[in-house]
Amino acid sequence: MTIDSRVAVVGLGYVGLPLAIAFAEAGLDVEGIDVSEARIATLRAGRSPIDDITDDRLQSALSGRLRVETQAEARVGEADAVFVCVPTPINTTKDPDLGPVLAAAGFLRDHVRSGQLLVLQSTTYPGTTMGPFREIVEESGLSAGGDFDLAYAPERVNPGDPASAARDVPRLVGGMTPAATTRAATLLSHINDRVVPLSSPDAAEMAKLLENIFRNVNIAFVNQLALLCERMGLDVWEVIDAAATKPFGFMRFTPGPGVGGHCIPVDPYYLSWRAREFDFVDRFIELAGDINLAMPRHVVDLVAEALNDRGLAIRGANVGVVGVAFKPNVQDDRNSPAAAVIAGIAERGGEVRFHDPHVPTFRDADGVVRDGVDLASLVDWAEVIVVVTDHRAVDWVGLYDSAQLVVDTVNSSDGHELTDRQVLRLGAGWSAGPHAMSERPASR
Ligand SMILES: NC(=O)c1ccc[n+]([C@@H]2O[C@H](COP(=O)([O-])OP(=O)(O)OC[C@H]3O[C@@H](n4cnc5c(N)ncnc54)[C@H](O)[C@@H]3O)[C@@H](O)[C@H]2O)c1
Repeated sequence: MTIDSRVAVVGLGYVGLPLAIAFAEAGLDVEGIDVSEARIATLRAGRSPIDDITDDRLQSALSGRLRVETQAEARVGEADAVFVCVPTPINTTKDPDLGPVLAAAGFLRDHVRSGQLLVLQSTTYPGTTMGPFREIVEESGLSAGGDFDLAYAPERVNPGDPASAARDVPRLVGGMTPAATTRAATLLSHINDRVVPLSSPDAAEMAKLLENIFRNVNIAFVNQLALLCERMGLDVWEVIDAAATKPFGFMRFTPGPGVGGHCIPVDPYYLSWRAREFDFVDRFIELAGDINLAMPRHVVDLVAEALNDRGLAIRGANVGVVGVAFKPNVQDDRNSPAAAVIAGIAERGGEVRFHDPHVPTFRDADGVVRDGVDLASLVDWAEVIVVVTDHRAVDWVGLYDSAQLVVDTVNSSDGHELTDRQVLRLGAGWSAGPHAMSERPASR
C-alpha cells in the first residue's frame, strides 16, 4: 500500500490553513499553496489571518514541516496527496460560481503526476468531483481511478468553535474507487480519530450539503416563529428555551438578523441549482432562503418601530450598530446580515456608525465602507443601538447601563436589568417594566 507522507494543500483560508497545520503537526511534510501573493506574504511573516490559528501555532508549524508558497513557486508534483480547499461562492443571481474550483483543477492538470491522490474538500454540489473537477484534471492525459486516485472529503470546521476542529469530530470521505477512499481515509486518520467512508464522492458532497441545509432550514423556521411571536405578544426566546428542555427529539436553533458567512447562506443554492438539472425544485431551500434573506429588512423595520416609539424617524437619526461579523467571536464578515441592515438604514436616511471588537472596517451592501468606532462613543452618539452580533468582547453591562434605546436581534439583553421600553427584542417585543404583562395583547 502507498505510504503518503508529503501533502500539498491548495487554498490557505479558514479550511485549508488549519488542515495544512494539522498535517504538519502530525509529522507530514506539507506544502501550503495559495493563489494570493498577499496571503502567502502574511503567512510567511508569521501572522495568522484567521481566528482559530494563533500566530504562535502558525510560526511553529512554519519552523517545522510546513512551507507556504505561491502557485508560481509550488512544487505540487512532489506531493503524494493534494487537498483542494478553495472557495465556492455564489454569484449575484445565487447560482454556483465554480471558478476557483475549476482554476484549481486547471492548476492540477498542469502539475498532476501518476500515483498521486487528489482530494477535493470545498463544499459543492453532488457531481462536481466526478464531473468538471475530474474532467479538467484529466486534460493532463492521466486518468482518474487509473493513473491517479480521486476523492471528496468535506470539512466540518466551524470557525470560532475550537471543539469543531477537534480530532474526535468524524470526517467523511467518498472516493471514486474503494482504493481511493481507503487511501484518503488513511491519510486523514493522521489528524482525525474517526473517518467515515462513503460509497462515492457524490454521496459525500450531498452529505455535506445536507448538514448545512439542515441548519439553514431550521434557522429559517425559528426566524419565522420569531415573527409570529412578535405578532402574538409572545417571547420566542422563552419559548425556545422551554422547548429545549425536552431531552430528545428537539434541537435548539435561535432566530437572528439573518444568516451569514461562507456556508449557510451559500451552500444550499449549490443543491437547488443542481436539482433543477433533474427537473426538481427544492422548495425547502427556496423558502428558507426567502425567509432568512428577509430578516435584515425586518431588523430595519424594528429600528423604525423603536425610533417611532420616541417620536423619531429613521431619516436623520443616529443609528449605532454593534457587531458586524457574521457570528460571535470571529472577524469573518463575509455575507454578514449587518451589510444589509446598515445599507437598509442608510437608504432610509439614517446616519450609521458601528462598533465591532473584531472588525476594524466594514463594507455595507451598497458598497459604502465605514471605520468602526469605540463602544462608549457609539453609545454616546447614537439615538438607537442595533445589536447584530453578540461578541463576548463587547462590554454588554456598559452598553445596557447607558444606551437609551436598543434593538436587540440576538437576545444579548437577556440577564441585564432593563427599563420599560428601553429594548425592543426581535421575536419578543419591548423590555418590560413591572406592569408590562397586562399590556400584551390577549390571544386572538
Ligand atoms: N469557512 C468555513 O467555516 C467552512 C467550513 C466548512 C467548509 N468550508 C468550505 O471550504 C471551502 C473553502 O472555504 P474557506 O472558508 O476556507 O475560504 P477562504 O476564502 O477563507 O480561503 C480560500 C483560500 O483559497 C485561495 N484560493 C482561491 N482560489 C485559489 C486557487 N485557484 N488556487 C489556490 N488558492 C486559491 C484564496 O486566496 C484563499 O486564501 C469552501 O468551499 C467552503 O464552503 C468552509
